[in-house]
Amino acid sequence: MDRVEKDYVFHRDLKKEYPIITHGEGVYLFDDTGKKYLDACSGAVAANLGHGIASIGEAMADQAKKAAFVHTMRFETQSLHQLAEKIGKMAPENVNKVYFTTGGSEANESAMKLARQYHRDAGRPQKHMVIGRWQSYHGNTIGSLSAGGDVKRRHAYTPNLLNYAHVYSPYCHRCPYGRQSDDCLKQQNWTCVTDLERTILELGPENVSAFIAEPIVGSQQGAVPPPPGYFAKVRELCDRYDIVLIIDEVMTGFGRTGTNFAVEQLGIIPDILTFGKGVSAGYAPLAGMIVHDKIIEGLINNSDGKFLHGYTYSGHPVAVSTGLAALDVYERENVLANVNEQGPYLFERLLELKERHSCISDVRGRGLLLGIELVKSREEDVLFKPSDKAAETVNTIAMELGAVFYPGTGSIDGVNGEHLIISPPLTIMKHEIDEIVRILDQALTLFEQKLRKDETYEITK
Ligand SMILES: Cc1ncc(COP(=O)(O)O)c(C=O)c1O
Repeated sequence: MDRVEKDYVFHRDLKKEYPIITHGEGVYLFDDTGKKYLDACSGAVAANLGHGIASIGEAMADQAKKAAFVHTMRFETQSLHQLAEKIGKMAPENVNKVYFTTGGSEANESAMKLARQYHRDAGRPQKHMVIGRWQSYHGNTIGSLSAGGDVKRRHAYTPNLLNYAHVYSPYCHRCPYGRQSDDCLKQQNWTCVTDLERTILELGPENVSAFIAEPIVGSQQGAVPPPPGYFAKVRELCDRYDIVLIIDEVMTGFGRTGTNFAVEQLGIIPDILTFGKGVSAGYAPLAGMIVHDKIIEGLINNSDGKFLHGYTYSGHPVAVSTGLAALDVYERENVLANVNEQGPYLFERLLELKERHSCISDVRGRGLLLGIELVKSREEDVLFKPSDKAAETVNTIAMELGAVFYPGTGSIDGVNGEHLIISPPLTIMKHEIDEIVRILDQALTLFEQKLRKDETYEITK
């Protein structure tokens, strides 16, 4: 494809040139020079079924030809009902009603507003505050950014953000409270949970509407699962203080971590579960929330049944038809079984890389949502300077070698901490995992060669 002469695109990075992708097939993307990239992060952990699936494209075209748009204030489509039914049946017990949005940020925004309306309608008008967690990500709209704890993304907009509170999530590998995870586990007493209760009491439970958390922290920490029992304690606190528990499964949903939703592994039932990315496997902008019956009953019994919210493209016919076609592929290809086979294999292979590279200090994650933490020296626990751009550099080298990963920074305290997410399409085969590991191995070797010339760096807090 010929490049245009004048560039009108407002790029993600205006100082960068991006490869132009012409097509994709399976786990591979191809650019206009013919270069092939193994998509080892499913784009942004979204292209969960890989690229170029004709049946999904055909379903999109069919729906677009029949009725591309109807407004959900007046009309609905069959595919809306069919997709809602499928998703509702996958969700935990009593979490049934599905509300669609176009992206994960909107889904979380909707969930936080719904929590507020639920309390207000039930005669608890003061409940409005949201508690989120540091080093968690819930989206880029003002509400979702306020609830999230991505320090870098928040900084530019600090004066615009809502006054929401934050606690630390359990990053046991480097506990922000300085505790040892074994002690917490033995005592079933986590400082991060105590801190949540203290925060609720400080704010006044009568003011707190919702607590929002990712079940496995994705982009901000690089696939960090919680210790067993943590979320049960969180659920208890939410019940005790009448706080809506929003579990953000935008990244983890639809089989990514080895179960339909990661909450199944946590053994808790959320009040609202948000989803995105995997629902359409990246083939259309589609996301949403699944809502517990108690909240729906509240809307019916305490108000006129209307959620005071909505988007033009909620339940867009082409988007929901895409979701339906994508879920058909998940079922047809038995994707969950593949995640549970390939996930542990990839994990093992990453542990082998850790043996060989002292710049890997941790391998973590569940299913095919895995992450590695990068440090300057594992033996002496020397961290990279943020200006080293370690994760980004490793990814740039890997892209030259033909694979793309999802780099991230600030995983430890918002500033320090470098990680790489490895989250290939859930349809990946063993030989393709071997290719990912081979390229990552090579990229890390080249990166370490480059490093030997640089000075060491101590953590700054
Ligand atoms: C856990 C989580 N929540 C919300 C979002 C925001 O979703 P979107 O970018 O579709 O608005 C993301 C995106 O990466 C995410 O990972």
